Amino acid sequence: SIWTLLLPMVAYLIGGIPVGLLLVRWTTRLDVRQTGSGNIGTTNVWRVAGMGVALATLSGDILKGALPCLATLHLVDHGPAYPASVGVAAVLGHMFPIYLGFRTGGKGVATAAGMFGVLTPLACGLALAVFFLSAVISRRVSVGSLVGALALPVLIVLTSGDLYLAGAGTLVMLLMMLRHRDNIQRLRKGEEPEFKGKR
Ligand code: G3P
Repeated sequence: SIWTLLLPMVAYLIGGIPVGLLLVRWTTRLDVRQTGSGNIGTTNVWRVAGMGVALATLSGDILKGALPCLATLHLVDHGPAYPASVGVAAVLGHMFPIYLGFRTGGKGVATAAGMFGVLTPLACGLALAVFFLSAVISRRVSVGSLVGALALPVLIVLTSGDLYLAGAGTLVMLLMMLRHRDNIQRLRKGEEPEFKGKR
């Protein structure tokens, strides 16, 4: 049906809405891209604008991944691969948003959590546990994101065995690594700062 083409496009356009950028601009008049790590995601919004704005950003970025996947499951008579493709489109929108010239998008953690939370909740929940543990132990959100991302495809295989979802998990994991390449460089040099939120 017409949805087959429309849903990935709509997912990409929804995924691109720069929630953190807009919320920080509206609440503080600052450009979140000019401060801290320069990222538009929850972690940097927390540094720049505090916990409240950060949690609102987190909710919005999760919904951008979850809603297109939920809509797909309900609207279309789909095979196993199609909802995952719609989720990947949302994550790509978040990372490479048309509204920001395909640059300065986010690192994909929250939007991927929304996507996989809908498509494979058990694996996603376990990956989030890995994320939290690694972030708390290392005191760096980026370490949590990277270790959680690496765990995700493995956890999908172990919990569901769905190869399409495992493929999508692998692709999203690689995209998240790519978007964290500045963090990875800083970590290798021992220059990644510990997380400190604004109070
Ligand atoms: O989710 C993004 C996080 O992994 C790192 O954010 O701002 O420290 O680069 P940031």
